Amino acid sequence: MSNRTKPSVWVLNGPNLNLLGTREPAVYGAQTLADIEAKCRNVAQGLEMDVRIFQSNAEHQLIDWIHAARLEADGIVINPAAYTHTSVAIADALRASDLPIVEVHLSNVHQREVFRHRSYVSPVAKCVICGCGSDGYEYGLRYLAKHAARREG
Ligand code: DQA
Repeated sequence: MSNRTKPSVWVLNGPNLNLLGTREPAVYGAQTLADIEAKCRNVAQGLEMDVRIFQSNAEHQLIDWIHAARLEADGIVINPAAYTHTSVAIADALRASDLPIVEVHLSNVHQREVFRHRSYVSPVAKCVICGCGSDGYEYGLRYLAKHAARREG
């Protein structure tokens, strides 16, 4: 593994978040995933962090990225989207990563349907941010800038 001078944070996005901007804008806002990515890159630059950003609709792909982050990243910001409420496998992968995890939701899931109130991810997250729209990603990156222990080499 190469020596890194900056902390590295991976931002993972789950299913249907590729549709942001057109998907239920009253719930999720008008910003596209590309807008959110640009914001994350901008914030990360100011925090002197390296950021890698991913989105997949496939549970196994998200798990494979979490396994890779386990070896390469210092922290994870994840919006698992609907897998939040269903995926023991993603929660297990996050737990196995032993990394500081920030769970982000654009909407306030607690104001919504009851099935969205349960999260398999929250018990393994250092912090949970919801209802702040895309600012939640920024807050997550800022949290990890303070609290992620950088891996050496
Ligand atoms: C979401 C909330 C989830 O309940 C939903 O399935 C999503 C997006 C959010 O960002 O508010 O797809 O994670």
